[in-house]
Amino acid sequence: MAGRGIVKIVTDVPGPKSRQLYSEAEQNVPRGVGHQTPIAVSSARGATITDVDGNTYLDFAGGIGALNVGHCPDQVIKAIKEQADNYLHVCFHVLIYEPYIRLANKLNTITPGQFPKKTILVNSGAEAVENAIKITRYYTKRYGILSFLGGFHGRTTMTMSLTGQIQPYKYNFGPSVPWVYHLPFAYCYRCPFGQTYPSCEVVCAKYVERVFESVMSADAIAALIIEPVQGEGGFIVPPKEFLPEICRICNENGIVFIADEIQAGFARTGKMFAVEHLSIEPDMILTAKSLGGGMVLSAVTGRAEIMEAPHVGGLGGTYGGHPLSCQASLAAINVIERDNLASRANSIGQRLKEALYAMQEKYPIIGDVRGLGAMVAVELVKDRATKEPAPKETALVRVKCYQKGLIILSAGIHHNVIRILVPLVITDEELEEGLSILEESFKSI
Ligand SMILES: Cc1ncc(COP(=O)(O)O)c(C=O)c1O
Repeated sequence: MAGRGIVKIVTDVPGPKSRQLYSEAEQNVPRGVGHQTPIAVSSARGATITDVDGNTYLDFAGGIGALNVGHCPDQVIKAIKEQADNYLHVCFHVLIYEPYIRLANKLNTITPGQFPKKTILVNSGAEAVENAIKITRYYTKRYGILSFLGGFHGRTTMTMSLTGQIQPYKYNFGPSVPWVYHLPFAYCYRCPFGQTYPSCEVVCAKYVERVFESVMSADAIAALIIEPVQGEGGFIVPPKEFLPEICRICNENGIVFIADEIQAGFARTGKMFAVEHLSIEPDMILTAKSLGGGMVLSAVTGRAEIMEAPHVGGLGGTYGGHPLSCQASLAAINVIERDNLASRANSIGQRLKEALYAMQEKYPIIGDVRGLGAMVAVELVKDRATKEPAPKETALVRVKCYQKGLIILSAGIHHNVIRILVPLVITDEELEEGLSILEESFKSI
């Protein structure tokens, strides 16, 4: 079937073995655990994936942003193997171990903020968010939490409450945790205030103060959590004034400012952390995904005095900061620094935007092209004037792509955004081949 430079499609997609496994998954795994493709993986390296039928794909999804260093980098695999030869698990509450301490120190050092910091390691992004909320409530002795419409912070009950998207994350899962309030995000393509940047003077940032007047007084609010670039919300990059203004309001009112860098962190946006594009120092930074270099890991890094608030034994968990994950993470961070993947993210992002702007000229369905560094997306609309979202067409592009050998993700509150999270180790040749498949897919719908 289709043969290219890197992509090799030798069966229908999905092939017979993938179809068989998919039907077994349907019998054994609840449908709530959705999939963006029906393909079963056999192996993966760098920016390529081979399935159980022998088809090779280019990966523009990177495990939803967890693989900035690519699939199975040698250094990460070596670190995991060496650690596995020593010990797998003891639990940090039972015996302390060096990989946890080294990684906490590394995160305290590389995260922005010229003040003493401490880090707790846990397992998933949602668990990092949960811990951040517990810690800030303990520290401030306040309970209100502010988050944003369109934001995503996880699927546990607290993090689902903070999330600002009903479908598929909140629908029918019952009442949210109380004392959580959502603010409008600076989504300029669909401005919640019907205004245009910069004449709007970023009025959306001031909305926080309206909440203090009418919803909850500032002295009852423990924290504000925000993604510097919204991920699941559709790669929404706010104007440069938005976060600094919100950060200022938080600082003036004793509200802990939490940057959720779980998707945007670790060089994805062209800096190690997305907030480094702005002159702000969050009180807390949450990381996961590419922190682990493909392993299960998340972290809360914050001002030492905030992190120290909870009593002994109030934080943690059996597997938090697993030795294999810590070693994988130290190796992955080393690769990011050694190979200057932040700078590579900028060049990938530039090429992606150039190609996507050219596609926008040709295909009216592309309403908006946006992004920061290599966190780039296109928003699809049925009509550029009305901006009516095109979710069905977006799903179709995704299907056309994987059938031609490109794994790509959709996102967005209206499910009409194609987002690109390529491993930052992708070669130029792989990038071009992926872009040509994406363009063919746009053309075919
Ligand atoms: C910004 C952000 N926060 C939190 C999470 C939750 O992470 P996890 O799925 O590891 O719980 C995600 C996951 O996509 C995310 O993108």
